[in-house]
Amino acid sequence: MSRNILIAPSILSADFANLKDEIKKVEKAGADWIHIDVMDGHFVPNITIGPQVVQSLRKETSITFDVHLMIENPQKFIDSFAQAGADYITIHYEACENNLDEVINKIKSHNKKTGISIKPKTPVNVLTPLLNKIDLVLIMSVEPGFGGQKYIETSTEKIRQLRTISPEKLIIEVDGGINQNTAGLAVNAGADVLVAGAYIYGAKDTKQAINSLKIV
Ligand code: DX5
Ligand code: ZN
Repeated sequence: MSRNILIAPSILSADFANLKDEIKKVEKAGADWIHIDVMDGHFVPNITIGPQVVQSLRKETSITFDVHLMIENPQKFIDSFAQAGADYITIHYEACENNLDEVINKIKSHNKKTGISIKPKTPVNVLTPLLNKIDLVLIMSVEPGFGGQKYIETSTEKIRQLRTISPEKLIIEVDGGINQNTAGLAVNAGADVLVAGAYIYGAKDTKQAINSLKIV
């Protein structure tokens, strides 16, 4: 596989008391993006971090911040995350089905890259009318909410379907249960960016773990 696969470690599995160093560690080990999971306790049954944390981390690094909003009413918070220094802002299709255009336009008004994510049970074809308006689709390969879950095998076919119907420039990102064994399934189906939390932050050798996902 000669395509350049990007690796986005998810700080959900990092030591939250030590986030700055945890980001530096993966950056030094070859991470391309930092994946930041934002959860509100409503859209998903967990609460994580808000824009203030993103803003503080932004002062410490220039690496691309890939912000994954697992929140209801994402339109309310786009301004805050954009101003905090997000580079990619990804919202969930299921959180704003009825005002997707408004949300997409809001992200674009800040000159940020626009992503839409779908949960494992949401079919790829709901995205068809949107694919020319956005930069990235995030396919969830676990139910959103927690790190360290098992890759749902049917995600591979969803990636393949999406690659078939999407423009060449659309970035396909996969999130959940990515490790040395599942990375190849996602990449061969057409994924460009792999998010990995437990696998990278749980590894003894961070550099080796990141490399093992790139060479699949
Ligand atoms: C889950 C999050 C993921 C999570 C992935 O809701 O969106 O980004 O951190 O973690 P792993 O790689 O451990 O499945
Ligand atoms: Zn995520």
